[in-house]
Amino acid sequence: MAFDLFPLLRPGLHAFEPERAHEMTLRSLELGLYPRSCGRDPASLHQKLFGLDFSNPVGMAAGFDKDGRVPDALFGLGFGFAEVGTVTPRPQAGNPKPRLFRLPADQAVINRMGFNNRGLAALSARLGGRRRGGGILGINIGANKDSSDKTSDYVTGVQAVQDLADYIVINISSPNTPGLRDLQAREALEELVGRVMAARSSATPLLVKIAPDLDEAGLEDVVAVAMAHGIDGMIVSNTTLSREGLSDPAAGEEGGLSGRPLFARSTRMLARTHVLTGGKLPLIGVGGVDSGAAAYRKILAGASLIQLYSALIYQGPALIGRIKNELAAALNRDGHASLAEAVGAEAKALSEQ
Ligand SMILES: Cc1cc2nc3c(=O)[nH]c(=O)nc-3n(C[C@H](O)[C@H](O)[C@H](O)COP(=O)(O)O)c2cc1C
Repeated sequence: MAFDLFPLLRPGLHAFEPERAHEMTLRSLELGLYPRSCGRDPASLHQKLFGLDFSNPVGMAAGFDKDGRVPDALFGLGFGFAEVGTVTPRPQAGNPKPRLFRLPADQAVINRMGFNNRGLAALSARLGGRRRGGGILGINIGANKDSSDKTSDYVTGVQAVQDLADYIVINISSPNTPGLRDLQAREALEELVGRVMAARSSATPLLVKIAPDLDEAGLEDVVAVAMAHGIDGMIVSNTTLSREGLSDPAAGEEGGLSGRPLFARSTRMLARTHVLTGGKLPLIGVGGVDSGAAAYRKILAGASLIQLYSALIYQGPALIGRIKNELAAALNRDGHASLAEAVGAEAKALSEQ
């Protein structure tokens, strides 16, 4: 295994304001200054989902690469898939800075970025020239803050990215765009999903990403709409507005909380979603994954794939390889020949915790 430099680099990187450190990380990925993952992924981690071949189930969550600048570098780091975005039809600046906060005492992050991105045209121009392959590319789409018809923004998004993406995510769960989460309510979602599915002219899989703060009835509604309209999968979950159990002085910042304190809440919701769907819809588990054990728990709760973001800020990219190795070892230990066999194996118990 290659020597992990990140523990030595982290104090220097974290001396910078978080958004600046993030831009420096993106720049170094653009310049090719990152450790390449070498060796093949263990065969037990391979899966075919939505008609796509995932060489491993570990993905970069949305929000890290909002403009699709570095998907191929992310595959080079060892991710099996990368989700770029959220991208909105028109470019937008996002909220005033500072808007991104580290909570090291809680191994957490709070952000109120507000969909800062360069818009669909810039993303399409960038990704249009790219050679496909190397990993699975998801594109996560959203609505502009000042849009009077948010549903139309998603229709525009699907039409623009469907030929560039291996899968598309309808993000209706960011807490930082006023009114966005209201699209999770049954009637609004019926209309949104209906229009978006009608706008889709290719077979590109369509997933919905939900908030961890939905109550049981709200979750049942989302699952019912998703299943009725033939949505391909769900991502559980986005960041939370809850501030339960935090000790870091930055805990009072406004925005969405991610990282370790989100793990229990998002994993419970994932397990409930698996139970409600009867295991029929592939789920992506995201929220607080910071080890192979945490990733394995998401899989037992019902995730076919997992994503992470916040833990990378604290542990660096060697975490990706550690998770893959630990997952393969856990499957072997528990006698599962493949990952698919373990998906949802403990969903019932975990949904009641
Ligand atoms: C700085 C930051 C920006 C994010 N931006 C987005 C976004 O644009 N779209 C989205 O769907 N999720 C976004 N997320 C949420 C992540 O994709 C993920 O759902 C959440 O952080 C939980 O995973 P984690 O605990 O591994 O970070 C963002 C998260 C962070 C920390």
